[in-house]
Amino acid sequence: MTDRTSVTVLGLGLMGTALAEALLADGHSVTVWNRTAAKAGPLVAKGAVQASTADEALAASPLVLVCLSVYANAEEILACDDLTGATVVQLSNGTPRQARAMAEIVTVRGGRYVDGGIMAVPQMIGRPGALILYSGDEAAFAEHRTVLTALAEPRHLGADPGLAPLFDLALLDAMYGMFAGIYHALALVRSEKVTATTFAPMILDWLTAMLGSLPELARVVDAGEFGTVVSSIATSQVAFPGLIETSRDQGVDPWYLPSLRDLLDRAVAEGHGADGLARLVTLLERGQTS
Ligand SMILES: NC(=O)c1ccc[n+]([C@@H]2O[C@H](COP(=O)([O-])OP(=O)(O)OC[C@H]3O[C@@H](n4cnc5c(N)ncnc54)[C@H](OP(=O)(O)O)[C@@H]3O)[C@@H](O)[C@H]2O)c1
Repeated sequence: MTDRTSVTVLGLGLMGTALAEALLADGHSVTVWNRTAAKAGPLVAKGAVQASTADEALAASPLVLVCLSVYANAEEILACDDLTGATVVQLSNGTPRQARAMAEIVTVRGGRYVDGGIMAVPQMIGRPGALILYSGDEAAFAEHRTVLTALAEPRHLGADPGLAPLFDLALLDAMYGMFAGIYHALALVRSEKVTATTFAPMILDWLTAMLGSLPELARVVDAGEFGTVVSSIATSQVAFPGLIETSRDQGVDPWYLPSLRDLLDRAVAEGHGADGLARLVTLLERGQTS
């Protein structure tokens, strides 16, 4: 057991509990604290030590995992005077700006700061397929990497603590955008009494085939070479009025489609009609225009 480390887990919601359980299962000494103290009971039964205050929990281990609802909760808790010798790994969901501010709070108190983005649900923690993105203090991450491996595959993205939440949010962005289209497509076919179960396999085949173009799309964006032999912005622009009109005819809210149409219109108006859709990335990079 000499290679085992003591770890503190602050926050025993669904995710914090899963993190503490995975650490206990891997043989670590785990100190836990939660605002609602009763939630620690099942973990104590499995061998965790329950701290009576957050300060006591912070002082108990060189590695402190924070998993609360929002960063503001953690700011209060980490406002103790001295974090010398502690590595604080913030796993609550937040923004890059919040992560950088939290890094400041921790480092001025003598601690080392690593931010994390959990790309998993609690049931996946400690199992193959779970991924946690990290950024921030590289030496502290390297020191604790083995322990963090008990939770999920750990992937460190760089010294800027804002990188893990940025990647986390960007991945959620891609997921929500894809599902937005799926929800809308299901509403369209259900307007003619086609069941979602009937249509879902066609969506799956279609999106799987389309996603095959992602590596080439990424190459094109990085190279700034937007010419296409596949499908131009002008071709997509022509399809959009029909898509929006059909939504309305079928009694379905066009929802996000008009704002995508506006972006296509803007690209064509700027002379990019012959380019591939990857060109849209550069329009978005200019910030909000309306
Ligand atoms: N669940 C997931 O699938 C998932 C996946 C990825 C990331 N995350 C992130 O992980 C974090 C925790 O998620 P969760 O699912 O564990 O949420 P949860 O079950 O709702 O637990 C929330 C935790 O925050 C604590 N908390 C809330 N307000 C507090 C306050 N003012 N002061 C002190 N503690 C406070 C709660 O304490 P009490 O028990 O006293 O209420 C509890 O420990 C979130 O940032 C979430 O976005 C979750």
